[in-house]
Amino acid sequence: MHIAKKTPEEARNTAMTDKTAQDHVLIFDTTLRDGEQSPGATMSHDEKLEIAGLLDEMGVDIIEAGFPIASEGDFAAVSEIARNSRNSVICGLARANFADIDRCWEAVKHAAKPRIHTFIGTSPLHRDITALDQEGMIEKIAATVAHARNLCDNVQWSPMDATRTEHDYLCRVVETAIKNGATTINIPDTVGYTAPRESADLIRMLLERVPGADEIVFATHCHNDLGMATANSLAAVEAGARQIECTINGLGERAGNTALEEVVMAMRVRNDIMPYRTGIDTTKIMHLSRRVSQVSGFAVQYNKAVVGKNAFLHESGIHQDGVLKNVQTFEIMRPEDIGLTAKNIAMGKHSGRAALRAKMAELGYDLGDNQLKDVFVRFKALADRKKEVYDDDLVALMADASASGDEHLQVKKLRVVCGTEGPQEAELTMSVGGEEKFVDASGDGPVDACFNAVKMLYPHNAKLDLYQVSAVTEGTDAQATVSVRISRDGTVYTGQSADTDTVVASVKAYVNALNRMHAGQGRANNSALQTSAAG
Ligand code: KIV
Ligand code: ZN
Repeated sequence: MHIAKKTPEEARNTAMTDKTAQDHVLIFDTTLRDGEQSPGATMSHDEKLEIAGLLDEMGVDIIEAGFPIASEGDFAAVSEIARNSRNSVICGLARANFADIDRCWEAVKHAAKPRIHTFIGTSPLHRDITALDQEGMIEKIAATVAHARNLCDNVQWSPMDATRTEHDYLCRVVETAIKNGATTINIPDTVGYTAPRESADLIRMLLERVPGADEIVFATHCHNDLGMATANSLAAVEAGARQIECTINGLGERAGNTALEEVVMAMRVRNDIMPYRTGIDTTKIMHLSRRVSQVSGFAVQYNKAVVGKNAFLHESGIHQDGVLKNVQTFEIMRPEDIGLTAKNIAMGKHSGRAALRAKMAELGYDLGDNQLKDVFVRFKALADRKKEVYDDDLVALMADASASGDEHLQVKKLRVVCGTEGPQEAELTMSVGGEEKFVDASGDGPVDACFNAVKMLYPHNAKLDLYQVSAVTEGTDAQATVSVRISRDGTVYTGQSADTDTVVASVKAYVNALNRMHAGQGRANNSALQTSAAG
């Protein structure tokens, strides 16, 4: 095959997009691919488009939008994200075979700046799985990278499980990929096994030993199995990597991937010792964190670095006193740096439409007139039940996916009888395809009784995989957000809802998941991807 030879600088510029400065670290977000690959973190087509739009707006350099050959749904999402792309490079994942790569190109080619990311497992364990010896694998890498490069100018190649691949062999495979046209070489710590010093040494070793290494960008892709993903990514950057692969909230397989908010804020707050820049508008972080948590159904742990609910809370007297005297005593970053509104002003039933619109804009929601009308009605209903409506209540209100009003199943009326003597009973009126139906059911607890009632009115064989409740704010009148995950025939559907009544939120979340199942808005569980790497 013939590759038009680029000068080292040109090749590196392709990978670096238009950022050539040596201190610029590219942010490659894989929330929609590696993040969504974590079992159960399914997102609908529209949610993926929304998240991609927000990532683009935040200044993410490269968005890995999905794995186009995995399903028709993935293909459609990557294609549309590519078509709608503005500034970010849009990347799709492909295993090391022509069919994957062609399908990937068909999806990403619509982007102003497309990228194909192809990979193969190179460690001894993976070579065993693919039944390829070292030479056979080299041939496959040469052929597939060259094929990708014939389609697209911007090709990323990854030796999966790089951190457990023999160094000599790793140098050979990386050299092969570069020679055949890869413009970015990503070094994945697929199983979260490496440690910071080793992560840095590996990048340094590759930069020193591999011919042509200075013509491409090295990326680092870390998993968090031992809690070292952020440290490992930053260590790789110090050694010369110039692209960090990460996800919002650290979403991802098993213990997740490197968290975008952590690496970006670490380089910003400790720029004195990590003098690197990113193009990220950090004030957009909080809104993205909340949206990804809502649409994936994966709650953010309270003490999560940067975006956890408690990250800026000062409860103890000593801390409060210190913060009041000088905010820097216990705060190394300002809440507003990540887009947390400085004033968590409570809204109430007397707040008007303009105030709600302004507050929502502050929280990252740009409401059109029709949407504002609908949200205002729901805000008033909430304010009637709850004395003070806080920022988190408004965010939950926006996430209440059960509220659109034109779904196949709609909860009309619910009455639950509870007592110390079971069983509990639920009387449910629900509209099923426009027809109102009533049923009386019992169960082991109020939620079980309600779910049984739903099943009686809408018989189905979906399995309940996850039921999760969290309080949005404090107090007995707090709203609860409920996430439900169901599956049928290998396809997963999620639902969310929020209400001051936990049981009502539970039923609405369940019904929301069933509506998605009815509409075919599920996602095949493709977490088997990593072991079937050679395709
Ligand atoms: O963790 C990993 O190795 C991956 C590759 C597909 C890059 O996600
Ligand atoms: Zn990964």
